[in-house]
Amino acid sequence: METNTLNSPEIANLLERLFNDADASEPALQAVIDSGASQLLNSKTRYRELYGLLKEVPLPVSRETGQLLYMLIRSTHAHNVLEFGTSLGVSTIYIAAALRDNGGGRVITTEFEASKVARARENLKEAGLIDLVEIREGDALETLATGLPETVDLVLLDGAKSLYGDILQLLEGHLRSGSLVLADDARLSSDFVNLIRSDTKRYLSVPLTGDMEISMRLS
Ligand SMILES: C[S@@+](CC[C@H](N)C(=O)[O-])C[C@H]1O[C@@H](n2cnc3c(N)ncnc32)[C@H](O)[C@@H]1O
Repeated sequence: METNTLNSPEIANLLERLFNDADASEPALQAVIDSGASQLLNSKTRYRELYGLLKEVPLPVSRETGQLLYMLIRSTHAHNVLEFGTSLGVSTIYIAAALRDNGGGRVITTEFEASKVARARENLKEAGLIDLVEIREGDALETLATGLPETVDLVLLDGAKSLYGDILQLLEGHLRSGSLVLADDARLSSDFVNLIRSDTKRYLSVPLTGDMEISMRLS
């Protein structure tokens, strides 16, 4: 019988709680936006400041994006997944649930806010998925620079938008023909979108509704 770990009451209840918490944090997010700090979104040097201001704000992917991640990982039988931007681990739960239902695998995810790393670890333990997850604490430019699996089947870009292109470059040697790259909030990363769409020999790339860019490595 096919399993769907997402439907287990423990995980469904946990995700519901995490999405409710995220909804409740909207005013805190708005306050950061109103302070003018969102102009740091484009900075390649001051992104740490922006996310420091947001360290109490969960910023999860949407439910639909979570479900899309689950479907893509199941349907492609992905085994090795990389995630840039863990926050409290909502997307990581969807990814790890899909790996569980695929029969196993590993997701490497990375986050520089120590308090978020601790909360993500607790959430993944509560979900019963921590055995599939490696959380690397630190800046992705360093944590993803070494120690990656030879081949990565799917990448989720969901950290500092100004770094999407740099992170793609770090990972490029690990992508195979057919690997998928999903970039959340791609609208905020036009450099990345221009880069990946113009590299037509190596990538096929299309926007999805809800501000996601999905790209497939061709060769
Ligand atoms: C949009 S949130 C991630 C949400 C998460 N994927 C989820 O669905 O729950 C972005 C996170 O990336 C982290 N981040 C941003 N830039 C980073 C970097 N260069 N290295 C590590 N973490 C980073 C931020 O602290 C923030 O928690």
